[in-house]
Amino acid sequence: MIHSVPDILNQALLGQSLGQKELIRLLDIQVESERQALFQAAYKLKSKHVGRVVYFRGLVEISNICQKDCTYCGIRRSNSRVKRFRLSEDEIIQAACWAHRNRYGSLVLQGGEVQSEAQTAFIEEILNRLHAATDGELAVTLSLGEQPRDVLRRWRRAGAQRYLLRLETTREDFYQRFHPEDHLWQTRLSCLEDLRQEDYQVGTGVMIGLPGQTRADLADDLLFIKNLDVDMIGMGPFIPHRDTPFASYLADFDKPGSLDLGLKMLACARLLLPDANLAATTALQALDGLGREMGLKAGANIIMPNVTDSEYRHQYQLYEGKPSLDENSEQCRQSLQCTIHRIGETIGYGKWGNSPHYLGRCPG
Ligand code: 5AD
Repeated sequence: MIHSVPDILNQALLGQSLGQKELIRLLDIQVESERQALFQAAYKLKSKHVGRVVYFRGLVEISNICQKDCTYCGIRRSNSRVKRFRLSEDEIIQAACWAHRNRYGSLVLQGGEVQSEAQTAFIEEILNRLHAATDGELAVTLSLGEQPRDVLRRWRRAGAQRYLLRLETTREDFYQRFHPEDHLWQTRLSCLEDLRQEDYQVGTGVMIGLPGQTRADLADDLLFIKNLDVDMIGMGPFIPHRDTPFASYLADFDKPGSLDLGLKMLACARLLLPDANLAATTALQALDGLGREMGLKAGANIIMPNVTDSEYRHQYQLYEGKPSLDENSEQCRQSLQCTIHRIGETIGYGKWGNSPHYLGRCPG
């Protein structure tokens, strides 16, 4: 039997887990009062488990050079219209120091996937320098695609604590539809397992609203992610990019509908994984200037403000309409701070902001 929305929300608030049918019902909500009730329930769980505190992760987009050719992504290998860049060591350290001076508790180094000894050694060197330059006070997250286990180990030893690697979708056949034949969902999954074995805090997520994706797929994504027992979740709406095979989807792209589904997914993720760190991603803000604020109100507790120099931001467009391209780091910080204070929350300056889920998994 499928329950009513209030019954499902009560079930979640009482700490009972939800199943596929309940999640589909929540993702299908059309009535405004039910929508608000969903967000309020997620907010209640967020307040209880992770507090009304937002943690900033300073995002450094280190390079848009990528060996992969994911069909949806603006920096895919075969997009010859994008100008490739790579930040120097000094530029990365400078951005990190800015984040440290501004008391961001942690940093995310994100870039296209490159598997090579040169890249491995470069990141190792950055991690060593970073540690020295910030007295080890910044927690470092890497988001550099799939990597062999020994590389993950070297980076962990050099001081990285967290890693983000999205599954993109948890349905293997569906994954293959959006990736060339040699990009394997199984490889990605086993990389997530390696990360766990190598003692990282692990984050994953999916894209929401891919062509052909159903509500049942999304509900299954959430259940799959819950089963993986991850510490962090980063997921956001799919947005077509003009220089990819999805260019034709731009014309009838339904921004409000995508935003709505993205927010419902966030809220459902909070209901299912109350103590995880959940990011309000930039893709939400690309759909609406207030997207990230809405994300916080729907259950997210993490924001990743860009701390790289704006001249490169134009070259790091994974999807169309990426916001804040011309804002510098300080403008980004200030506008976010206003947003967060406006909704009555505080910023966890100077704190690492490990998820309670991780702390529960690894006490001490
Ligand atoms: N729309 C939304 N998200 C995208 N990503 C890549 N391309 C797009 C797009 N067109 C996301 C993927 C990837 C992350 C870094 O960016 O989920 O894992």
